Amino acid sequence: MSFKSTTRTVKHLHLSKKIGGDHGMSRGWRTSLLFFLLLMSSLLGRHPLRAEGASQAATSILYDAQTRVFRISAADVSYIFGINERQQLQSIYWGQRLPDSDPIAAARAAGGSSSFDLPVNATQQEYVAWGGGLYVTPDVKISFADGNRDLVLQYASHQIVGNHLSIMLKDVQRAVFVTLSYTVDAETGIIARNARVENRTDAALTVEEMNAATWSLPAATDYQLDQLTGKWAGEWNLQRQPLHPGKTMMESRRGSTGDEINPWFALERGAAQGEQSNDVWFGALGWSGSWQIAVEQDYAHQVRITGGYDAFDFAYRLAPGESLQSPVFYAGFAQHGTGEASRLLHHYELHTLAPQHEHWRTRPVLYNSWEATGFDVDQAGQEALAEKAASIGVERFVIDDGWFGQRNNDHAGLGDWYVNPKKFPRGLKPLIDKVHSLHMDFGLWVEPEMVNADSDLYRAHPDWVLNFPGRPRTEGRNQMVLNLARPDVRAYLYGVLDHLLATYDIAFLKWDYNRNWSEPGWPAAAPEDAKKVYVAYVQNLYGILGQLRAAHPGVEVESCSGGGARVDLGIVQLTDEVWPSDNTDPFDRLAIQNGFSYAYAPGLMMAWVTDSPNWVNGRSTSLSYRFLSSMQGSLGIGANLNHWSADDFQTAKNLIAQYKQIRQTVQQGSLYRLIEPNADSPYVVTESVAPNRQQAVVFAFLHSSQQGLAYPPVYLRGLDPSVNYRLKVLDGSLNDSAPASASGAFWMHYGLHFNLRGDYQAAALLLEKEGVQ
Ligand code: GLA
Repeated sequence: MSFKSTTRTVKHLHLSKKIGGDHGMSRGWRTSLLFFLLLMSSLLGRHPLRAEGASQAATSILYDAQTRVFRISAADVSYIFGINERQQLQSIYWGQRLPDSDPIAAARAAGGSSSFDLPVNATQQEYVAWGGGLYVTPDVKISFADGNRDLVLQYASHQIVGNHLSIMLKDVQRAVFVTLSYTVDAETGIIARNARVENRTDAALTVEEMNAATWSLPAATDYQLDQLTGKWAGEWNLQRQPLHPGKTMMESRRGSTGDEINPWFALERGAAQGEQSNDVWFGALGWSGSWQIAVEQDYAHQVRITGGYDAFDFAYRLAPGESLQSPVFYAGFAQHGTGEASRLLHHYELHTLAPQHEHWRTRPVLYNSWEATGFDVDQAGQEALAEKAASIGVERFVIDDGWFGQRNNDHAGLGDWYVNPKKFPRGLKPLIDKVHSLHMDFGLWVEPEMVNADSDLYRAHPDWVLNFPGRPRTEGRNQMVLNLARPDVRAYLYGVLDHLLATYDIAFLKWDYNRNWSEPGWPAAAPEDAKKVYVAYVQNLYGILGQLRAAHPGVEVESCSGGGARVDLGIVQLTDEVWPSDNTDPFDRLAIQNGFSYAYAPGLMMAWVTDSPNWVNGRSTSLSYRFLSSMQGSLGIGANLNHWSADDFQTAKNLIAQYKQIRQTVQQGSLYRLIEPNADSPYVVTESVAPNRQQAVVFAFLHSSQQGLAYPPVYLRGLDPSVNYRLKVLDGSLNDSAPASASGAFWMHYGLHFNLRGDYQAAALLLEKEGVQ
């Protein structure tokens, strides 16, 4: 996958780097460059993402030929490493931006403390191969045909172009080359790293482990590791734990991203709750297949974070001349806590990674009929729902599962992507026309990578699924996984989807994926190439999505995997939104959405209002509570509108109209988690501030009043302190003493006093700069 360079790179700064070599610039050049840098930093002024007060300076990638030190600087971040006397790439510094004038000494390999502790393990390297007595997680491990398994990489050359640095490493003896790639984002300082290993020997070799990068942090005893764990209908639980010497392995062996743990991490230093103040290093993998991130703290308390393809069951044979590219591992640094870390990631996702990053389209309000009608879809029933959805202001109508093949339940039909003639005798066109006449666009659910045994496709091509010949084929939800690594499967699926999009006026696909792999065999491949399935499958998935987007540029896609089991920085580059969880209980959703927001932007997150009592927990909540919970993301409605009262329609209509006024701020603004869900507290508050700080939206929730206690004061953040903001209560209420208008400073320091009492209560507020229409 490619990543795009940002526009604010200052091209002049790269004059200093000579292409392809260990050359530097003269002292005179360096002085003028420094002056230029300082000038640029004062001109660029404050960074909107870092309202806490830091300023953004120019982006630069510098190489000092005397010290052999590389210095990547962007936004408020510096990332520094050097070539040491052993020709290893040694990590030096990653953190708050340092002036380029500060001297950085040449890298010197660390000595081991005893004969048991070889120096290669004590030295923190950017990318290290398994060889020479390495015991920490290797970035790459290779077996050669002659039995050798030792690989020792050394610096060979480098190249700097714009905001991109590539460095070539080579084995001490054999013609195995690894090219490391670094691309830095000017606005967030987030660095995208990957690696490509190339076999220039004259015999085939097997790559047995392949990571994108190792990120190194200095020795310290007060690190805390944050992870996002979960299960179906219970995704995105934030786990915080102190980091101790040893290794924490995060991985998915499932063939896809998985919901057990998301390929994201944050390491905080300092106080236990670091939403605003800790130094935080964070990162996420751009890969939707089996993956791993190893977080290791060594005996000296140094930390390494290594991530890429999951090493379990991995083998990738490279014939002479062939190469293997790792996934991309993205990482950044924030000096103002996990709050700032997630705002940086959100910005990067929406403005650099998302397919619509150049012209981000606000997410439309969607209706999906799944929870209302299940598999029982037909033209009359869907038309009736469409009319009701249109009456409350819905902009996109989506039919979910059940419209195709013999799909009357989850035992049959997957694989047969033709319209079921009993349910839609004249095809989908009459329904789509009806939806259009109601001024909504039309969306459709698909699950292309799966097949039921009871389907025409499986009867015709039983060899198309992942399997080991003669062995059982384990089913999950009565379905098997098609082997998308096979070129014929890829071609078939592209053909089916392309035909669907060409035949019907479809604006949106909800692309589902409802199980993980079992028996991951690829019998048609040569045995020594069969494990390439882990890479080739995902490459073909990305390939199909990319090809479909190119052929049908207007079509938007949602990534769903029985909820949030395929959300990662790879899939978000090819899809417009994700479904975080099948759990639509509005109270559970507060915690789910909170966890999700640590790694992914609210603008990517679908949130539906569904029926009460909710099917997950049997919990009953008011319609407005459900709406306010969902209005913190991209709003959808999934309730059975046939059961709504006239009052419900009126409530929904009003809240959807209000949502349309605030959605840009919610979806694209800066998110402040003012009070996070916590089992010991009944309160939850979020605030979203528009990029230009003209609008702020606040949502407050109360689980249950206890002991007559009043809602605690809520102090807003990220406003312009010196201008006045007008207050509008969208739903719920504040104490009578709240002024109609006050300064940003007032709202941030005097605060808001919600008047919430009872069970499952909620309020939503809008603050708008005075004088702004
Ligand atoms: C998965 C999805 C649901 C729905 C069903 C349909 O569970 O997460 O939203 O689409 O499949 O079968």
